Amino acid sequence: MSHKRVAILVSGGGSNMVSLVDSMTGDHPARPCLVLSNDAEAGGLKKAAARGIATAAVDHRPFKGDRAAFEAELVKPILEAGADIVCLAGFMRVLTEGFVSQFQGRMLNIHPSLLPKYKGLNTHARALEAGDAEAGCSVHEVTPLLDDGPLLGQARVPVLAGDTPESLAARVLTQEHKLYPAVLRRFAAGDRSPVQLAWEG
Ligand code: GAR
Repeated sequence: MSHKRVAILVSGGGSNMVSLVDSMTGDHPARPCLVLSNDAEAGGLKKAAARGIATAAVDHRPFKGDRAAFEAELVKPILEAGADIVCLAGFMRVLTEGFVSQFQGRMLNIHPSLLPKYKGLNTHARALEAGDAEAGCSVHEVTPLLDDGPLLGQARVPVLAGDTPESLAARVLTQEHKLYPAVLRRFAAGDRSPVQLAWEG
């Protein structure tokens, strides 16, 4: 069996990247081929290198807001790595249609809310402010609209009395680490039926 090749894009610590990488062993239909960041100092790059995965960085700052020029560089290592699937895992740059269309139907993103609620930033603070009884995370196929696109999985967590954005984020993150690998395994096998993870406490 030839494995699907997965490129993972990170901006920060890369805990979701680690959970994806560590899941791709044994009978998993995919293997990591690249971890790529817009920040050469991203902690995720070191973690990937320590796992023997090829890494690359394309700093967005010299492009001074010229997204198309940034993306023209960003795409190069992905193409060179021969990626079949692209996973955004805490990648904090907005991608334009020009980039997204090159990976139509094969780019995934994880977002820390129960989409379609709370697209964009500060999701946990917004869920608390709204008085929501539950929160969670979503994995979806990436389309040109931000945090949109067909849902491939969701995991729910309860909001607890006294929660802060930080405590809620930590609870959601533990579920992200279960949800994203579960979705990727299905997706790489050609199955797009949504994964639903219940809260097990
Ligand atoms: C995760 O919570 C992810 O859902 C979120 O950033 C965090 C990255 O953590 N992504 C977004 O907010 C995307 N808009 P990680 O680097 O430890 O995986």
